Amino acid sequence: MPSSAQAIEAPSTVSRTSADPAFSADVLACFRSPRRAIPARWLYDLAGSELFEAITNLPEYYPTRTETALLERYCDEVAAHGGAGRAVVEFGSGSSVKTPHLLRAVQGEHYVPIDISGDFLRDSASALAADFPELAVHPLEGDFMRPLKLPDAVAGVPKLGFFPGSTIGNMVARSSVDLLRSMRETMGEGSMLLIGMDRIKSPDILIPAYDDAQGVTGEFNLNLLRRINRELDADIPVEHFAHVARWNDSYARIEMHLEAQTDMTFEVLGECFSMAKGETIHTENSHKYGPRDARLLLRAGGWTMCHEWTDPDDWFALILAEAKPFQTAP
Ligand code: SAH
Ligand code: AVI
Repeated sequence: MPSSAQAIEAPSTVSRTSADPAFSADVLACFRSPRRAIPARWLYDLAGSELFEAITNLPEYYPTRTETALLERYCDEVAAHGGAGRAVVEFGSGSSVKTPHLLRAVQGEHYVPIDISGDFLRDSASALAADFPELAVHPLEGDFMRPLKLPDAVAGVPKLGFFPGSTIGNMVARSSVDLLRSMRETMGEGSMLLIGMDRIKSPDILIPAYDDAQGVTGEFNLNLLRRINRELDADIPVEHFAHVARWNDSYARIEMHLEAQTDMTFEVLGECFSMAKGETIHTENSHKYGPRDARLLLRAGGWTMCHEWTDPDDWFALILAEAKPFQTAP
């Protein structure tokens, strides 16, 4: 018997599919390693983006409605604190459903939605452009983890980054600092950033938000295995995996895993792997932040907080920050 998740055939050098080579590399690295984990960005193919939209409407998933209420209430203040007239650059724009609140308040001429889920991005961008005929919409398909070249049309226009949803929480601390720095580089010194960050709260609220009664979050998680089967010529027995959401208190994060319900073997791109009952694939982290954690993280990434708005329960924070010139210590 092969030891768990070990390759029992020589790694195939020829890819039989036209899948994104970065996706193949991440998936093969996951199954070749004893610590099985796949970066969360691969959850978002078209089906994954649609399932995430369904999650945002679940009664247990409080972040979307809490943040939307903050945006409805405070976007005028964002404009008054220096956001007015800026080009809005949104990182991980998804359906762009929260953005109209900001666009109406800021009244800029340009909107740059950035997302890795290309088809979903283009559909959302055209829907938004139809609602804002005066706005120039420049969708940009790409990985926001690296500095991106923004469209020439916004060169020289002051920028307001928009990073809602607490998507920052899906990165470990080191990557989130890298991302904040790369946003600074993409948009330039003097830019502003409106970022949503989910607060630490009781696991009694957090766990159901990531393990809902209707099983939609489970489907979102399992879709990753279906995507691997579709795109990487794989035969993972999806029906033998269960969705698991855990609160990891020392990291202040919810973790999503896919747990094998039985011993199994399967193939991915011609390479054979095995998993034992009870072993998991770690598919997502969703970090939560106290007020000081949030400020420290932003500062480490080159952003100084100017203002913060929260809901009456302090469940979610909307933070406005600025890329001020760097100062020498102390
Ligand atoms: N901003 C929306 C959507 C959040 S879901 C909201 O607040 O509801 C996270 C979004 O980020 C998805 O649309 C996903 O496709 C995108 N995303 C995740 N990782 C990404 C990456 N590395 N680069 C670009 N987009 C990414
Ligand atoms: C996109 N991101 C902020 C969501 C979150 O809450 O971490 C993704 C998600 N995963 C499961 N439910 C929602």
